[in-house]
Amino acid sequence: MQKDTVTIINNRTNEKFEYPILDGTVGPSVVDISTFYQDTGMFTFDRGYTSTASCRSKITYIDGGKGQLMYRGYDISYLAKNRTFLDTAYLLLNKTLPSKEELEDFSIEMKKRSFIRESMKKLFDAFPDNAHPMAILSASVSALSTFYFEHLDIDKPNEYMEMAKRIIAKMPTIAAFAHRYSQGLPIIYPDLGRGFTENFLYMLRGYPHRHIDLKPIEIKALDTIFTLHADHEQNASTTTVRNVGSTHAHPYAAISAGIGALWGRAHGGANESVIRQLEMIGSVDRVDEFIKRAKDKDDPFRLMGFGHRVYKNFDPRAKILKEIRDKLMEEGIGVNSELVKVANKIEKIALSDEYFISRKLYPNVDFHSGLILQALKIPKEMFAVIFVIGRTPGWVAQWIELQEQPTIKIARPRQLYVGPVDRTPKDD
Ligand code: CMC
Repeated sequence: MQKDTVTIINNRTNEKFEYPILDGTVGPSVVDISTFYQDTGMFTFDRGYTSTASCRSKITYIDGGKGQLMYRGYDISYLAKNRTFLDTAYLLLNKTLPSKEELEDFSIEMKKRSFIRESMKKLFDAFPDNAHPMAILSASVSALSTFYFEHLDIDKPNEYMEMAKRIIAKMPTIAAFAHRYSQGLPIIYPDLGRGFTENFLYMLRGYPHRHIDLKPIEIKALDTIFTLHADHEQNASTTTVRNVGSTHAHPYAAISAGIGALWGRAHGGANESVIRQLEMIGSVDRVDEFIKRAKDKDDPFRLMGFGHRVYKNFDPRAKILKEIRDKLMEEGIGVNSELVKVANKIEKIALSDEYFISRKLYPNVDFHSGLILQALKIPKEMFAVIFVIGRTPGWVAQWIELQEQPTIKIARPRQLYVGPVDRTPKDD
């Protein structure tokens, strides 16, 4: 049978090269150019990897045109509305949703593993006051590799699982400690009587020996945020985790690097930037001025929480979050109604403005999440940290998938060199 191929003709030499087309279960086909350099002596050029598939994966599928996101074949809205973050984490790691008993066991194990070694607390003492929690988090996750050095060389499923469960369970504790230390507040240890998400909110907000009431709607809102962030195929931070993982570094070093990549405002830092921007705009009568700035080519100002590399119709995560934001407002859970008015006006204008329509710029997951997190009394500096807690199961699932390949190819792109040559003095 004739194989489907793409033919490339080099007009300089008139040579023809054929490359196989590979089909996934769904989504665009890919052209396998892995022998391109060997065949042609040339590299392909793809700044920002906009046309490059870097791996085969069975974890997450996004259809940016339809606004569809699936984890292991399950639609995100099903998981967000009917399941919990722990179900989702289990699904990402084990490839199937858990039964009631499996979920119960997983939850108990998460609780037991949520503590960090007492000696690790000294690390937090070393950071200056007001240190950004993302910096503390990245450093602490890297430091965790010193406590679990045995995870450096793992190749059995039970070893991967232990590594994975450990980091997912400890991430909220490290994150909460990062916040408490950076603010000079007493740390709160995990409470074994509380579930995963409730426990994180408790460690963030609680005080020693003081009862704290967390409303189910607040826990569900944060749990949904975690679920919506759990994986997003080969985005910048996941690609970072896979790239570091491809060198056989410690998995926690790979995740620490992923945290660094996520921190930037073009990625996980956007939710913090959205709130800061909404506060800067301040009132509905100033929205037009900022929309004008966003459209001005000579102004670096961008509307934070708008646009996405993959979603070109709508971001399904943003839709779900908008519903949650409005529900929290109805229930009087402290959503800043002035900022909601500003956000709604920005959204309304942008969705009908030629600049945004022609560039397919829609509200992304970060546009609404900041307002929800603010309503949950989570400080802005912690917004990207929340993203990290949610994304950790995705990172470890992607790391495991990479390690389970028959052979690991180190990530090593090439370049188009445009710098100077022959500058070395000849007679020295
Ligand atoms: N405001 C104004 N103009 C924008 C925006 C924006 N937020 N985003 C993109 N554009 C314009 C951009 O100037 C360019 O215009 P032109 O074609 O005239 O040069 C065009 O739209 C394409 O933009 P791009 O930067 O080439 O697109 P990209 O796919 O490389 O970048 C993005 C995607 C998310 C980095 C970008 O849209 C952005 O910076 N958005 C704001 C930051 C943000 O909300 N980030 C969170 C992303 S979702 C969470 C996550 O995955 O981490």
